[in-house]
Amino acid sequence: MKQTVSTIQQMKRDGKKIAMLTCYDYSTARLMDEAGVDVILVGDSLGNTILGYEDTISVTMEDMIHHSAAVARGAKNPLLICDMPFLSYQTSVYDAVVNAGRLMKEGRAQMVKLEGGQEVCPQIEAIVKASIPVCAHLGLTPQSVHAYGGYKVQGKTEAAAQKLLDDARAVEAAGASMVVLECVPEKLAQKVTELLEIPTIGIGAGAGCDGQVLVYQDMLGMFTDYVPKFVKQFANVGEVMKNAFAAYMDEVKNGSFPDESRSYKMDENVIEKLY
Ligand code: KIV
Repeated sequence: MKQTVSTIQQMKRDGKKIAMLTCYDYSTARLMDEAGVDVILVGDSLGNTILGYEDTISVTMEDMIHHSAAVARGAKNPLLICDMPFLSYQTSVYDAVVNAGRLMKEGRAQMVKLEGGQEVCPQIEAIVKASIPVCAHLGLTPQSVHAYGGYKVQGKTEAAAQKLLDDARAVEAAGASMVVLECVPEKLAQKVTELLEIPTIGIGAGAGCDGQVLVYQDMLGMFTDYVPKFVKQFANVGEVMKNAFAAYMDEVKNGSFPDESRSYKMDENVIEKLY
């Protein structure tokens, strides 16, 4: 079934959990589609997992469009969200609308995600007015890593928790259709979830959210540069890949790959006539 903003919002009203994963390429998108994943996020985490940057700061609009378009070709049923990269929306409301539009037109996204609360509400309002659904992102917002001085759990003090609640109310009032809560204490995420009508999607925010998101290389054990506490490895695909690469190397080196069954034949008469 094709997931849309309305079907995802209905899942919250029906008390059904929403399963979201990040994705950055066509063949993985096909697999997620076949597995029935509800929502795919082309996250700017591709800066870390695909491009090998230390953070998401250097990710460009071109990077996001390139990967979003590839995922869109493979994922027919999941709702497709694409991240707005650093400085593609913070600079002005105009930039935000133009860049959100590019992610839809060129990246074939069906919703855009941006980081921040009250400070980006003018951008959210304008993007929504342009008929582009928006997902907000609160709590630990990785594009602000240098302002925070590291990746830390957010909203632990009374003031920080109250600010997060106020931001959540503000992004909903500005027209956001969904909100991601990253690295937030579970009780606080639950309170936000109860307070809002739009779905909350948690990552390191406990079980009380309306849905969950994980970076797919994290949950498959393929990205081990840094493994946050909230990550569960549902399979060790990294190990499976390493073993397959090593087996391939052995067979190439010892000449057992390719064998007869994987080679093309031709008429012996033809080969004999060649000089
Ligand atoms: O970029 C990303 O993958 C994200 C998720 C961590 C929510 O924003």
